[in-house]
Amino acid sequence: MAKEVILSGMQPTGKLHLGNLEGALRYWVQLQNDYEMYCCIVDWHALTSDYDQTSDLVDRIIDIAIDYLSAGLDPERCAIFVQSQVKEHAELHLLFSMITPIPWLERVPSYKEKSVELKLDSYGFLGYPLLQAADILIYKANWVPVGKDQLPHIELTREVARRFNTLYGDVFPEPQGKLSQFSGILGTDNRKMSKSYNNEIGMGESDESTAKKISSMYTDPTKLRLGDPGHPDECPVYLLHIIYNPDHITINQRCCTGKLGCVECKRICAEYTNRALSPIRQKRAELEKDLPYVKKVLSSGADKARAKAQKTMEDVRRAMKLW
Ligand code: TRP
Repeated sequence: MAKEVILSGMQPTGKLHLGNLEGALRYWVQLQNDYEMYCCIVDWHALTSDYDQTSDLVDRIIDIAIDYLSAGLDPERCAIFVQSQVKEHAELHLLFSMITPIPWLERVPSYKEKSVELKLDSYGFLGYPLLQAADILIYKANWVPVGKDQLPHIELTREVARRFNTLYGDVFPEPQGKLSQFSGILGTDNRKMSKSYNNEIGMGESDESTAKKISSMYTDPTKLRLGDPGHPDECPVYLLHIIYNPDHITINQRCCTGKLGCVECKRICAEYTNRALSPIRQKRAELEKDLPYVKKVLSSGADKARAKAQKTMEDVRRAMKLW
């Protein structure tokens, strides 16, 4: 039986952090075993807001590709590629733009929020979720692993697929979002881990820097000194223990009874975190020394993706009775 198809993508924001790793990448690595998988680096999407920051775009793309590979995405099982290297995404986006009413795009929450907050008023930014719909539908994806914030974009993708199918005949499946069970990594300041908050711990960061960041992390404000009972379930450091420390239950108990102080707890946390990330970091160091290999992965990933995208475009043109 043919495997179901998965597509996912990330913007080339530069090196990824533990939130990206635990909230998305680890899940992708699992999924590549059971699905026909496409992992895209969406450089055109980056231009919908940061169109004036192109000088390091290529470096940021390479950094993401290295993080994908060091986390365990396997180019044999999954097409790792750059959006702009498969031009068919642009063609499908254009055709979708003909059949999509502007109000559908204006009511997408990310547009409503960011257009005001960041003063984004370009045609391309309005079309952001439509370009995303093209990314997804050009591979006839059944599933899209994303965070909760992306679900409105998946919903729009389904609406566009439905409209296309109604107008021209069945070409596209209606894809669904696939939430990873874990999306809760918090940054050093107890807010969602994010580059824009400057509170992230990088996947490829050094052991020393990781330990330093963990030692400066927000903790339970009611636990001031050794002996005070803590509340691990509300502590971002304990979240890291849950992920990286196989014996986190002991930490939990010792914290709750006041036996474990925050300084010691953070030291243990850094040790386990660094231990768990060590193979990923080693892989990154190797790949950084072999950029021709990384570029080869991206170019053969694009070839594989393009072959499928071209097939879909043939179906699309045939259905629409285009030349
Ligand atoms: N909008 C997504 C994000 O910001 C990135 C993205 C673009 C994407 N195209 C996609 C995600 C297709 C999944 C599928 O995270």
